[in-house]
Amino acid sequence: MSIGANSLGARDIAHLVHPQTNLQRHLQDGPIVIKDANGVWTHDDDGNALLDGVSGLWCASLGFAPERLAKAAYDQMCKFSYSHLYRHNSHEPAIELAEKLLSIAPPSMSKVHFQSTGSEANDVAIKLIWYYHNALGRPEKRKIISRHYAYHGSTVAAVSLTGKPDMHAQFNLPLDGFLHVECPHYFRNGQEGESEEDYATRLANDLESLIEEQGPETIGGFFAEPVIGSSGVILPPRTYFQKVQAVLKKHDVLFVADEVITGFGRTGKMWGCETFAIEPDLMSCAKALSSGALPVSALMLSDKVYQAMLSQSESLGNFAHGHTYAGHPACAAVALETLKIYEEMDLIPHIGRLSLCFAEMLDGLQDHPLVGPLDLTGLMAGIELVKDKETGEAFPANMNLGTKVADISRRHGLLHRYAGNRISFAPAYITSEDEIGEIGVRLHKSLDEAHAALSGT
Ligand SMILES: Cc1ncc(COP(=O)(O)O)c(C=O)c1O
Repeated sequence: MSIGANSLGARDIAHLVHPQTNLQRHLQDGPIVIKDANGVWTHDDDGNALLDGVSGLWCASLGFAPERLAKAAYDQMCKFSYSHLYRHNSHEPAIELAEKLLSIAPPSMSKVHFQSTGSEANDVAIKLIWYYHNALGRPEKRKIISRHYAYHGSTVAAVSLTGKPDMHAQFNLPLDGFLHVECPHYFRNGQEGESEEDYATRLANDLESLIEEQGPETIGGFFAEPVIGSSGVILPPRTYFQKVQAVLKKHDVLFVADEVITGFGRTGKMWGCETFAIEPDLMSCAKALSSGALPVSALMLSDKVYQAMLSQSESLGNFAHGHTYAGHPACAAVALETLKIYEEMDLIPHIGRLSLCFAEMLDGLQDHPLVGPLDLTGLMAGIELVKDKETGEAFPANMNLGTKVADISRRHGLLHRYAGNRISFAPAYITSEDEIGEIGVRLHKSLDEAHAALSGT
């Protein structure tokens, strides 16, 4: 496609640096510029309508032009557009949002601390793990464990939790003291004849061995997404979290559940923690909290963490941490309106019904020669694209077939995510059953085209 002089594409190339983008390729290909949106459809400036099967970046749960959220932001900004929470300042939207979040949170959560992004929420969680153990007089308990292929964000500390090698390469990351254990991917990493439960036991034993090797007195916290999202929607093997939590409890290691993608119904229950019986000490959430309409994230804390923070701030004279936009009134107002809409739509039963149709659509793809095992929970799914359907033989990891399929899908007017040889879906909660069917039709065409290209037909 040629990029006209002074077009938005040319101006983009001249001025913008894009995240998670091949910068050299961008100079030639230019951007895909979105002009407007309607429900779960966006339109680019070439006039293409794109059906979004993954809610933008797993966030736009109420679609891309939710008028009520726009109005909530407008109304709040007409009252006051900025106020902060530093030094005892407060305002109604932040108070009400904290109250609302705790009313739907897992029972172990007792307080809420706001930020703007998922990365920040996880960064603060790391700081609070250190603050907590320092308060208890064990400053050496500061190493943090997460999993390979986990995604916890892009800031220096959050990306150190993240287990994606490409996000560490040449950035001098991860920071010291961040350790990674195996990605719990039964289909790829389970051994011949090993049951899912036995695989989970092996992973819990490996975690315990690492803690013992390092010395339990040096391990402060463990982070996990209830379902690994960005790396292609990978569900934990049965009994995994039950066994992992027993190890963490034994060695007094705090568990942080990263619910940035899985929160607010995505897995079929309000929280991934509920779906997978996790009792977190801290829990981060973002994305669907505001349907992605404005940036807001929250870190929820158990009482034991909060009590340690109380005693630290008492002895130091201040809880010396903060962000200018944490608890921003317009963002909080939009999040409150989002939660109100979820309530009105009776979110969890609604997702239960829509997920049946989603599962049926995915089931219709099972015979396709490229389609391998499916990971599915609620309105979140990952498909492994395989070379040999019978044996499950993988394509070479560096083939990145997921990227190629996503490019073809885009040409067929369908958006989804990809990671290596996996493709993933997380449709908005307002997607109609017809639109779910349409995702299936377009995906089938895209997979056919990818298959034909691979077999040279
Ligand atoms: C599970 C998880 N945690 C954290 C993040 C980081 O959130 P943000 O991009 O808002 O910093 C993401 C982003 O995709 C995520 O998927």
